[in-house]
Amino acid sequence: MKHYYKLDEWNIIEQGFNADNNEISESIFSLGNGYMGQRANFEEDYSGTSLQGNYIAGVYYPDKTRVGWWKNGYPEYFAKVLNSTNWIGINIKINDISLDLAKCSVKQFERVLNMKQGYLQRSFVAVLSNGNEIEVNSKRFISMKRGEIGTIKYSIKPLNFKGKLEITPYLDGDVMNSDSNYDEKFWDEISSEVKPYEGYMMLKTKKLDFHICTYMTYEITKNGEIIKPIAEFKQSEKYISNNVLVHCNENDEVVIYKYVANTSSRYYEKDELIGITKKLCSKAKMDGFETLLKEQADAWEEKWKESDIVIDGDIPAQQGIRFNIFQLNQTYTGEDYRLNIGPKGFTGEKYGGSTYWDTEAYCIPFYLSTSQEKVSKNLLLYRYKQLDKAIENAEKLGFTNGAALYPMVTMNGEECHNEWEITFEEIHRNGAIAYANYNYVNYTGDKSCLGEFSFEVLTAISRFWAQRATFSKSKNKYVILGVTGPNEYENNVNNNWYTNKIACWTLKYTIEVLNYLSQNEPERLSELKKKLNFKDSEIITWNNIIENMYYPCDEELGIFLQQDGYMDKEQILVSELDKKHLPINQNWSWDRILRSCFIKQADVLQGIYLFEGEYDTDTIKRNFDFYEPRTVHESSLSPCIHTILATKIGNYDKAYEMYLRTSRLDLDNYNNDTKDGCHSTSMAGTWMAVVHGFGGLRVCDNKLILNPFIPKHWRSCSFKITFRGALLNIKFNDSILQIQNENDISVNLSIYNSDHTLNGNALLEIPIQ
Ligand code: BGC
Repeated sequence: MKHYYKLDEWNIIEQGFNADNNEISESIFSLGNGYMGQRANFEEDYSGTSLQGNYIAGVYYPDKTRVGWWKNGYPEYFAKVLNSTNWIGINIKINDISLDLAKCSVKQFERVLNMKQGYLQRSFVAVLSNGNEIEVNSKRFISMKRGEIGTIKYSIKPLNFKGKLEITPYLDGDVMNSDSNYDEKFWDEISSEVKPYEGYMMLKTKKLDFHICTYMTYEITKNGEIIKPIAEFKQSEKYISNNVLVHCNENDEVVIYKYVANTSSRYYEKDELIGITKKLCSKAKMDGFETLLKEQADAWEEKWKESDIVIDGDIPAQQGIRFNIFQLNQTYTGEDYRLNIGPKGFTGEKYGGSTYWDTEAYCIPFYLSTSQEKVSKNLLLYRYKQLDKAIENAEKLGFTNGAALYPMVTMNGEECHNEWEITFEEIHRNGAIAYANYNYVNYTGDKSCLGEFSFEVLTAISRFWAQRATFSKSKNKYVILGVTGPNEYENNVNNNWYTNKIACWTLKYTIEVLNYLSQNEPERLSELKKKLNFKDSEIITWNNIIENMYYPCDEELGIFLQQDGYMDKEQILVSELDKKHLPINQNWSWDRILRSCFIKQADVLQGIYLFEGEYDTDTIKRNFDFYEPRTVHESSLSPCIHTILATKIGNYDKAYEMYLRTSRLDLDNYNNDTKDGCHSTSMAGTWMAVVHGFGGLRVCDNKLILNPFIPKHWRSCSFKITFRGALLNIKFNDSILQIQNENDISVNLSIYNSDHTLNGNALLEIPIQ
């Protein structure tokens, strides 16, 4: 495979300016800090193809729905995270000619994403139409320590001329979302002010009244000395700028340091916004670029301490996994339970920045192992706080008695998706939300959430399943009809095995939690029962469903069937398809996809992954060997699950093949769609592929289980995780497993079926079996 970006363990490097690749690089080189983020647009004017994007987490707009054929139950509005004020802008004119990389000749272009220290750097030499040659070096970052602060150092050097250099730092709020349904602009200006060397702009969204305030200030140096040229200022609707004129000689270096603060009414009172934003911005300027950069490197050092994965002997794999971890840590930091993780993070507009089941099924395992407990707990709280909306959502569809159906796609708890086969039928998402509560308790051992909020969420979801399952007289079993499983290449099917499985699992787990609370927190339980109007007869109904649920299977093949009638389909393997048909979602009509046996993403295998403990290795192998050759992996969420199961059954070549597909998906633009943004949620799946797959990590009975296997292309692999307060560095090669406890909290482990206690700061070494 030819790699467009240079291979490097800690950096993503683009060498040479390739305008055709620009939108892809804008996604890849994105920056963020959980609070805000942006695509890697250029600071200076660029008239070539570009998708401009600056986003503030949680600042969204309910855009009026566009739909072909209206169905009752569809949402009127779609929430989408807004493209907001472009704060990076610094236009440059050299002897009256604008610097625009689309209109000059570009030499020595290099763009570097330094993942170790968290900044983006760009350098190039541009030859303008009048022959003037300049060298530009820029460095910028979004502070991990100061959520609201972004900073740029932009240096310009005339290489073969002397003359006029005009520098125009600006803020531009006149931006729109490229996915706006009716080409509307979503922002109104509230106020702005600009004077020499500083200015602000406050905007508000046309609906919902989110206010954001952006403040900029800057400093200019020439050959290292601060200079204060006269600054002219300009103000128009949703736009402010300064313009400074500097006279330069050949090889003078002029640097502009631009400091920006972005605040929103999500965190501050509206009437305080301007004052606070100015203060934050001035403080950043006072502390200076180098101090902020040092803080940034320190903050990233801390992040890497908890979450790094080191792969020795395979640079593409090393770069791939670090890129994934870097993007995940840029996307969500877990301080605010009102925020979540959009499938594209801050790297693009697709999926509207909304929340999907991706968070619970893929992202929570990453944050559980690499961050403090509160980070995953906040993700659980996000759904708890939206429970009332999920109940309303279910009521709209005819469910009663506090049954909840969480939306397929949401920002504030309301459904933001309108394809009936997904909105109404892809109900397995409810199960992932229930499972995430279990996962949190199982991993952390912290059961406080059960009484605090999990029981309420679980009861509401169980009530939904109990009403959604119906009794089939002909089968003498409970069935769940008219659903779409995780495999979206089948719609409106009956008895999707995964959905039936996760529905019954939810019922069982809810009863288990109820029993736990009745033994350990009886008072809280009676409070909750009262609040939920919970009747013990519900438990009888749930048990009846659990005991009598129908699970499609093929006895002869010894496999679970994805849904009723799956074996009626013509059984062809992906390997038998001519490559020109792939991806089928870009080459086939929808009905052809639906009629085929091809599977978009792990479905039965997703269930086997979640409930692996219930199945012996032969059962897992039979199902894997049947479904893997029929899976086209046209969802980025798929290959990671296949990696994990392939390692479980010892199919190591397949595991490695699937791993490569997930880890460099965006860097190698595998699905030809990176320009829309990176696949941020599937990046957590890549992490799972290494840690749960090659590391074989599981948690069972309060013990950490490891079962490592090293792909033959790697000399060694090590990953950092936190588990029950201990910080572990787990390293393995083909002969030895070493577990170094990096703090003083001891931890219980089970390795190759024997138990160990690893004391604080101790090292455990075990030969690989
Ligand atoms: C997948 C879904 C996923 C969504 C967002 C779709 O292509 O089929 O499972 O939730 O993308 O990542």
